[in-house]
Amino acid sequence: MRVCGARGEHMENPLQVGEPLSLVTICLDGYGLGQLRNSIASLPMVHLRAEFQHYLAQNDDQILLERADIYVIDFDQNREEAVHTAERIHEVLGRTAIFALSSSSEPLLIIRAMRCGCSEYLLKPVNHDELLKALARVREQRKEKREHIRGQVLSFLGVKGGSGVTTLATYIGALLAKVHNRRALLVDYHPELGDASFYLSLQRHHYHFYALAENAHRLDADLLRPFLVQHPSGLDVLQSPDGFDPPYGQVSAEAIEHTLEFLRGRYERILVDCPPGLDKANMAIIAQSDQLYLITTPETPALRHLIHHLDQLRSLDYPRERVRVVVNRHSKKGGVADDQIERAIDKRIYWKVPNHYAEVMKAINTGAPASLSGSSELMSSLMRWADALTAKQPEAAKGKEAVKPAASFGARAGGAAR
Ligand SMILES: Nc1ncnc2c1ncn2[C@@H]1O[C@H](COP(=O)(O)OP(=O)(O)OP(=O)(O)O)[C@@H](O)[C@H]1O
Ligand SMILES: [Mg+2]
Repeated sequence: MRVCGARGEHMENPLQVGEPLSLVTICLDGYGLGQLRNSIASLPMVHLRAEFQHYLAQNDDQILLERADIYVIDFDQNREEAVHTAERIHEVLGRTAIFALSSSSEPLLIIRAMRCGCSEYLLKPVNHDELLKALARVREQRKEKREHIRGQVLSFLGVKGGSGVTTLATYIGALLAKVHNRRALLVDYHPELGDASFYLSLQRHHYHFYALAENAHRLDADLLRPFLVQHPSGLDVLQSPDGFDPPYGQVSAEAIEHTLEFLRGRYERILVDCPPGLDKANMAIIAQSDQLYLITTPETPALRHLIHHLDQLRSLDYPRERVRVVVNRHSKKGGVADDQIERAIDKRIYWKVPNHYAEVMKAINTGAPASLSGSSELMSSLMRWADALTAKQPEAAKGKEAVKPAASFGARAGGAAR
């Protein structure tokens, strides 16, 4: 941790261009706030997102929900509460930088701030240049981390319409962002009228994934930014076009590949909500995917489609181990039995998501998939699926493809990773 005094050399401003940084203040007094606002007024890329006049209280996640890049906490008003606040922010939002602000240069206090996750200790009154340097360090660390990311593309495809693709992709995306604190992106790949934003209660806007891919040759962070819409869980969304014209879906496979390659450098998990079918447009995404989740429901017409999909993928030489079969709306009563499904497709079911219509509809109507309790069968299944997607062990290494008699559901219904 750096301790920055009130004096500093004048420096060039490195924050005029590039990635924006969002900032939240906690318990800063009038003077401190005024100073901070003055300092960042000349920095177009630094946005003061919120000012809280209280520390983090129990059962109040408002501060955490801001998910800012930097939290500036005044440690003088109540040191214990400041420490608790910093600890919680550090624990929940691992990537977030925390600056402690104090008029005391007492070594023990500085060490305490360091131990609870603060990366900077700024002495009051905060020197403009020191603040600038601290912000530049955060920017630099972000850049370094991003350069090491090579995100995974996870495609969700229904074997027929209405299989639950959008439901599962939105739930899993929101859980990855909120519970696992991953940089997660959901791409609504429908060439028109995709439902993802509707399921997440997000405002529609004019920019969509296809327009982004059409500009693949000039992609950079500045171009991407206005295309993104963020869900309160932290999940970023690239929407689909919201009408029928002009015809999209004509974007070349090269442009799709280039766009995904760019997005892999910025997100750890990129989930794609595909429209049904194995046409050229879908294959452009599927070919680039690390995993393809083939979503079916446990009834005979859907299973007929599932078999055809697997045959078609085989004939296209698509790697079998990348395909994961997910049975959605699974039920212990009724529906085709697991072992019958597995024998028919000569492949194991990767995941089973229980049938819970009321709960799914509630989530769709409130646009809040990840805020539901983890205690229901549905949420517990989806949470374990999201856990599996973030496990250190590569997913492909888990389980074997050979079909064994299907295990029974056991005590905790609704999901068995294979
Ligand atoms: N696990 C589940 N339990 C109960 N109902 C579900 C479940 N998953 C999805 N549904 C319901 O099934 C319907 C279709 O779901 P969804 O829109 O996610 O499917 P889709 O595959 O995206 O459809 P489309 O082909 O139209 O894009 C919705 O009404 C949804 O509420
Ligand atoms: Mg859908």
